[in-house]
Amino acid sequence: MAGPLQSEMRKKLLEVFSGAKGDFLSGQKISDELGCSRTAIWKHIEDLRKEGYELEAVRRLGYRIIKKPDKISGNEIQLGLETESLGRYVHFEESVTSTQKIAHRLAYEGTPEGTIVVAEEQISGRGRLDRVWFSPKYTGVWMSIILRPNIPPAQAPQLTLLAAVAVVQGIQELTGLEPDIKWPNDILLKGKKVVGILTELQAEADRINSVIIGIGINVNHSEDQFPDEIKSIATSLSIELGEKVNRAALIQRILAKMEHLYTSYLKNGFGVIKLLWESYAISIGQQIIARTLNGSIEGRAKGITAEGVLVLEELDGTIHHIHSADIELVSKG
Ligand code: BTN
Repeated sequence: MAGPLQSEMRKKLLEVFSGAKGDFLSGQKISDELGCSRTAIWKHIEDLRKEGYELEAVRRLGYRIIKKPDKISGNEIQLGLETESLGRYVHFEESVTSTQKIAHRLAYEGTPEGTIVVAEEQISGRGRLDRVWFSPKYTGVWMSIILRPNIPPAQAPQLTLLAAVAVVQGIQELTGLEPDIKWPNDILLKGKKVVGILTELQAEADRINSVIIGIGINVNHSEDQFPDEIKSIATSLSIELGEKVNRAALIQRILAKMEHLYTSYLKNGFGVIKLLWESYAISIGQQIIARTLNGSIEGRAKGITAEGVLVLEELDGTIHHIHSADIELVSKG
């Protein structure tokens, strides 16, 4: 991995190229802008090529970027990022066991709020209820966000709902697709799962040290890339859109939405987030089956409480508060 100085230089170099908008930049101009030798520039250009950038080099004209990689990197995420805190420190790795695992370690070591961990591939991506999360290389967004809110641990599920709203809004803004949320935080397109969110805590009885929000988005998967077990229930943004989606841009949009919602949440509480979440939720008002660890309950989803708990009403009027379950929508007719 590049050291802090090198990665700062690489970031500056990408900024200079981005300013040139596809035109050639002479080696001299680049070295003046970056304040380093032309040999050093050449080395950085070679590194960019290794990262998947296609650069054209023409004598007397210099260099220009022809194609950006279909890969994500810390640079790609940070260039043009419109946030103040979220994503200001990016821990990027090509291949990891789980970004959650790394985020837990960084959080424990005291990394600042807003740190994100992103990987191109997860070997053992984790889903809710101890499931495996399918996380193949170069196709998805596998990201964990570290927050340090000053709220009681019981309120942490609200942040999961906040994250779901941010993801829906980010996807909407970038692609025009209109995803639905299925309680608590499955995000669906045409009834198939496209995003999963896993929230984990490092907390004491009365105090949160950190909340780690893991977001997995199926972005550029083709249908035949999904394993047989999930083929009929999973989809990707590109399948639904009919074209590939820029994953770094998607991360940027989601971080911007999330920072906005999080700032409002810390200042004004959960009220607005709850309304937004409900406006995207498909399960509310519908007949559902909630499969909990203690068995299944069928009834109508009445809404969520101020804590983000699902309220379910059985046919005989019995009200249940569901904290954790898998939800199945009972089809009408
Ligand atoms: C779910 O079961 O719906 C939640 C899936 C969460 C997957 C994401 S991918 C990034 C982060 N790292 C993990 O190992 N899991 C979460």
